[in-house]
Amino acid sequence: MRSTTFEGALAYDPEAEEANVTPLPVARICPRPPPSSWASISMDCLARTGYEVTLCDPLAESGALAQVIGERKALLVTTPTVDRVHGSAIRRALAKTDAVSMLVLNAREESKSMDLVHAVCAEALARGINRRGLLVSFGGGVCSDIVTLAASLIRRGVGHVRIPTTLIGQIDAGIGLKGAVNFCGKKSFVGCFHPPEQVLIDSSLLRTLPPRFLISGLAEAFKMGIGRDESLFALLARRSRDLVESGFADEAAREVLQRSIWSMLDELRKNPYEDQSYERLVDFGHTFSPALEAALDFRIHHGEAVAIDIALSSTIASCLGLLDNDGWEEIVGALEAASLPISSPRLDLELGRSALTEACRHRGGSMNLVVPSAVGHATFLRRREELADPVLIEAIDRIAARAGAGK
Ligand SMILES: NC(=O)c1ccc[n+]([C@@H]2O[C@H](COP(=O)([O-])OP(=O)(O)OC[C@H]3O[C@@H](n4cnc5c(N)ncnc54)[C@H](O)[C@@H]3O)[C@@H](O)[C@H]2O)c1
Ligand SMILES: [Zn+2]
Repeated sequence: MRSTTFEGALAYDPEAEEANVTPLPVARICPRPPPSSWASISMDCLARTGYEVTLCDPLAESGALAQVIGERKALLVTTPTVDRVHGSAIRRALAKTDAVSMLVLNAREESKSMDLVHAVCAEALARGINRRGLLVSFGGGVCSDIVTLAASLIRRGVGHVRIPTTLIGQIDAGIGLKGAVNFCGKKSFVGCFHPPEQVLIDSSLLRTLPPRFLISGLAEAFKMGIGRDESLFALLARRSRDLVESGFADEAAREVLQRSIWSMLDELRKNPYEDQSYERLVDFGHTFSPALEAALDFRIHHGEAVAIDIALSSTIASCLGLLDNDGWEEIVGALEAASLPISSPRLDLELGRSALTEACRHRGGSMNLVVPSAVGHATFLRRREELADPVLIEAIDRIAARAGAGK
């Protein structure tokens, strides 16, 4: 007769059931080593790390990059435009390090694939990056997504540092734990959770960013403002034009960055590996947008697709009576004032339905569409049945009519 005295959840053992004996408990590796008799061992994998996001303008003079690299061998990955406009600054920042090589990768949304991840891995191999080695991404969200994924794969995981050079990078893509690339026409289908060691933010890098990309970055700031931070929304609603015209050098810029980053990290900290819940406020604006980006062959910019999604999700909330008309006007009006798009001819019922089906697949069977209930507050439409087709059609038509009226 097999018997045990140690604690643990009961494991199902069909043989034991047949023989009518007590099933063996599941042993736990942590916190105690198991005794010799066990049928199944439960292994806790709690090795998790934290990281810092540091504001350090101007990066070239701050010494922060050389400090984080230290004596390690590193590969810095950037893109042609960023190399052209900020290459000399980054070389200055690296002047006191001698084991850093550089890869200029022609990374764009349309080519954000495993091929580019492969190119980074191959360069890391050629440059002799060892287990303690480091990758550094110096570019926008496309660059940091590729580098994050490559860092998670090289030697089963080496460290990485991010220096985001776009607004989306500085408040969103560069701030979280994830990296992903597009796969078989699906947005961000292949990816990883691989937290950076450090994120270094130099807002002066944004001065060279073309207005289109500054504007589209505002969509991610609106996501946090509308979803949870009324003051951020008010700031954006009042100052978006000045922010763009000044190249984010306006006096409100620092507060927008700080509030956006703070909100993002505060949301992520509750559920960093998305294993606690599939209800995520940061998914606001990210339900219809992946399908729209893919349908347009990734020729729409990510932030523009997010803005269209925010406008549609807000209109759905309004059609369902969850958001009052003043709130809807405020949100849509602020997006328009920032010159963000609020609709697309490609956005139709078919695309909306397939985006919701994909969202359910991605969110453990629940739709979890984030919709605002007022500026600064959001709620979830959890089940697909909560959003009937006639409501979706009404919302698509209403926001398209508003966009048409604004032309
Ligand atoms: N991993 C995540 O959690 C996450 C979150 C949000 C977005 N993303 C991803 O981020 C990407 C969008 O990021 P993005 O907006 O940074 O786009 P991007 O990386 O394509 O950069 C936009 C453009 O700006 C140029 N550029 C970058 N920095 C510049 C600078 N300082 N001066 C002049 N030009 C500059 C680039 O060459 C590019 O043409 C999308 O692929 C999106 O899926 C990922
Ligand atoms: Zn996004």
